[in-house]
Amino acid sequence: MSRSDTAGRARVTIFAPQIDELLRDRRDGGARVFRVDGDTVAVADPQLIDKLLGSRPAHEFERPTFKPLHGRSIERSEATEALQAVSRDVRAALRDPLPDSVDLSGSWPRVGHARLRALLFGADPRRLRLLTHRRLESPPALVPAAVRTSAIFPVGRTPRAGVSHLATLTAASAAADPANRRHALGLYRRVAAPVCLGASALVANALWLGSPFDADASNRHILLETLRLLPPSWNIMRVASPEFPTLDRRIGPGDDVLVLPLLSHRDPELWPAPADFHPERWHDLDPDNHPGYFPFGHATERCRGRHLILPLAEHLLDRIRADSLAVSPHQTTTTIPLGPLLTVTRIHITRTRPIGG
Ligand code: HEM
Repeated sequence: MSRSDTAGRARVTIFAPQIDELLRDRRDGGARVFRVDGDTVAVADPQLIDKLLGSRPAHEFERPTFKPLHGRSIERSEATEALQAVSRDVRAALRDPLPDSVDLSGSWPRVGHARLRALLFGADPRRLRLLTHRRLESPPALVPAAVRTSAIFPVGRTPRAGVSHLATLTAASAAADPANRRHALGLYRRVAAPVCLGASALVANALWLGSPFDADASNRHILLETLRLLPPSWNIMRVASPEFPTLDRRIGPGDDVLVLPLLSHRDPELWPAPADFHPERWHDLDPDNHPGYFPFGHATERCRGRHLILPLAEHLLDRIRADSLAVSPHQTTTTIPLGPLLTVTRIHITRTRPIGG
């Protein structure tokens, strides 16, 4: 892995070589549209991204959350029910602030993930909770095996006290036959896992980039700026489509397109001091309508989970800031591996002033 300093602070982020190369090339004035291999063109040009993503709806297999499960499509009504259920769970979790007794120091994003998992799905049957375990992410091939295993036995239909709305929905729709059960459990995982993984990754990235945070920076601005510099969804893939060559002649009829928000978010023509972490820049910017800013995708099909992720991340930040937690002064480097989710690994969070100080 090679090194690059993105935060403009005394912390060095060691990106996976492939990501580091992209960042370096762009910083050195490299092209905004370039070929990655024989049939993939990468695009970092803000206007072209806007046109490409707006030119057609995503195919179902391009979708991050509701792509087909074991070859079976997820109906729109199923997706909506699952999102409604998890939204109710998130709203319930946000009703009260995290109690003073909650200690969010330790190794992130693991600590944040464990806290969210306990908060949202802590009372769910063990078999379901296992499906949101972080370990299942690496290698990702573990996920289908875990879903298959947990679908072997029928799911009880009588909800226990305190279980999540999502678990109740899963139990109601897990039919007696294993194939339908597997579909229902797979859907539980598709919805529950990114809530915990996404919000904890986002907060970990924020802690790395900016903690200890300035007292007058709002949580929302901290998160918007984090999503700019370290967007967890750092790339968006689209398979070759007849629309694409008509938008830019460098894209051939057989070329897939790799959209790179990671790079458009650092375009010097759009952002003053693009590599620096400045939450206050968001005072005057509209995150839903700023050229080149796509942390949750394009306006035509924006992430339906963003209204869960942002409040949950703010919830964690409230506790973190109240407890004066920040990256340990002894930690000066972290790594960001190549993966579907761009996130720092193992950052050590400690108190920066004594309790009661
Ligand atoms: C940090 C966390 C997250 C980030 C950065 C993120 C980012 C994105 C992005 C970039 C897209 C557009 C993808 C494309 O156009 O191909 C998207 C779509 C979507 N996201 Fe998220 N997302 C996050 C978490 C979630 C969560 C927790 C849920 C729901 C539980 C969710 C549900 C969706 C849905 C339903 C879509 C529309 C496409 C589909 O049906 O899969 N997202 N998200």
